[in-house]
Amino acid sequence: MTFGRARSERKVQEAPGAPGAPARHVAIIMDGNGRWAKKHHLPRVIGHKRGVEAVREVVRAARHMRLEALTIYAFSSENWRRPEDEINDLMGLLRAFIRSDLEEFVANDVRLKIIGDYGVFAPDIITMIDDALARTSHNTGTTLAIALNYGSQQEIARAAEAAARKGAVTVEAIDAELDTADMPPLDLLIRTSGEVRLSNFLLWQAAYAEMQFLEVLWPDFTPAHLREALDHFATRERRFGGR
Ligand code: IPE
Ligand code: IPE
Ligand code: MG
Repeated sequence: MTFGRARSERKVQEAPGAPGAPARHVAIIMDGNGRWAKKHHLPRVIGHKRGVEAVREVVRAARHMRLEALTIYAFSSENWRRPEDEINDLMGLLRAFIRSDLEEFVANDVRLKIIGDYGVFAPDIITMIDDALARTSHNTGTTLAIALNYGSQQEIARAAEAAARKGAVTVEAIDAELDTADMPPLDLLIRTSGEVRLSNFLLWQAAYAEMQFLEVLWPDFTPAHLREALDHFATRERRFGGR
């Protein structure tokens, strides 16, 4: 059957095979800001603030390590279920982050990308994001994909619908319609805070990704944790269904 063959050829092509091949694309579920704040007897928003500081350092490290792509889960399509005050705090931090870090992305060859539907955000945030995307679009260093109002099931449904409209619902056709279509295959998915679940993040893309669930709370995550995760990744033998 052609479907099966095409699929296995694609995977074989993508498979770096031997242990030691460096990760090209890492994704992180940045979880544990609330628990960090609680542990330090601080308001929840301070946990989110410290979380943004951790993001800044990790992006710098990813650039330094010449990672091709880093995808970070910043706001899920289910996070709208949180209290309005917390959502407002998160939106405020998003504004502040773009304002303070955009110049560094421009200067350091970081290409910004958004996955998810940010079209529902406040108009000023949409404008800031569009400006940031345009100003970093020619950068070729590290791609930083920020997942905003992102839900993987919705992304897959949208992609399948688009593929069907164009003719054939194949693995390749869906791949090509995902928000991550222009990114390297996902190699490594990290979740902090000890939770072992995907929470609607990159379900399709994680098909053959290595996964690491770390106990560290996101605000305490440092470039050393990323280095360690990548070193561990390099020891894994990825089989992609072969032997
Ligand atoms: C992750 O930290 C940040 C977002 C989801 C925006 P949490 O806010 O989920 O922190 P915990 O899981 O309650 O500790
Ligand atoms: C996942 O964390 C979303 C982000 C990190 C942005 P959550 O804290 O929202 O996930 P659940 O609710 O524990 O599954
Ligand atoms: Mg959480």
